[in-house]
Amino acid sequence: MSVRHFLSLMDCTPQELGALLRRAIELKGLRAHGVLQEQLKQRVLGMIFEKASTRTRLSFEAGMIQLGGQAIFLSPRDTQLGRGEPIADSARVMSRMLDAVMIRTFAHSTLTEFAANSRVPVINGLSDDLHPCQLLADMQTFLEQRGSIQGKTVAWIGDGNNMCNSYIEAAQQFDFNLRVACPHGYEPNAALLALAGERVEVVRDPREAVAGAHLVSTDVWTSMGWEEENAERLKLFAPYQVNRALLDAADPSVIFLHCLPAHRGEEISEDLLDDPRSFAWDQAENRLHAQKALLEFLILPTETP
Ligand code: CP
Ligand code: NVA
Repeated sequence: MSVRHFLSLMDCTPQELGALLRRAIELKGLRAHGVLQEQLKQRVLGMIFEKASTRTRLSFEAGMIQLGGQAIFLSPRDTQLGRGEPIADSARVMSRMLDAVMIRTFAHSTLTEFAANSRVPVINGLSDDLHPCQLLADMQTFLEQRGSIQGKTVAWIGDGNNMCNSYIEAAQQFDFNLRVACPHGYEPNAALLALAGERVEVVRDPREAVAGAHLVSTDVWTSMGWEEENAERLKLFAPYQVNRALLDAADPSVIFLHCLPAHRGEEISEDLLDDPRSFAWDQAENRLHAQKALLEFLILPTETP
């Protein structure tokens, strides 16, 4: 069987994604009970970071160690990648030494080009277009707190960025409805919207988006790589802050998620992460468990022929 990559949620079937979440919850329980794991013993994950990270780096590195393997942090500043060695050449060489590669990058094409030349699984640790690993953790958190998300309504408030694009893919894969509230000119990827069809609706008014929603999520107004636009974005996005009053307009069972890092006073009010409806800390922790399940799934040979 050819090598599997995880560049997008669409690289897995809905059944596989469901199984990943169930395994993530199982691995979480095993860790809580102090059960030591070594199914990835002697396996090595390479991690290429072209952008900053706390959660992604830590969860992949700790996850590999907890499964008996190792992770190697590769910064473009210290590797030949930063000096112009072609992505395809780097992929050919690195994938002969590693068991999987995680990449956090700018252009999504860096991931697809690397994957096309890699002998081992490539994982998207965030690109300008998508952040699928974060969605595994978000979906795990909803499942733990409220059960199946199938048929529920999710509201995305703010920038139509990489996280929002991955929510659009999640809506299709996990079978929920998504309302995106964003300013004109900051809509999510048009091709992804077209593929999602009626399942995803773009509105301008955050209150309209959250009405009856079971999950509300947002993200920074200025993603990595867009810092020059920060001042303009702060003004434009001001009506899109998620606060307690906005959550009050959602379904009474609503939960709030934020992939973090958060800018209190900007996309969320100062107090929102302390609200009992916020599960952002569980969500951050679940990066660890969900990605351990993903690493097992991608690295270990399957039983089926
Ligand atoms: N949510 C997330 O990906 O966080 P980091 O940027 O810290 O990895
Ligand atoms: N949209 C944010 C997510 C950070 C985890 C960014 O790309 O900077």
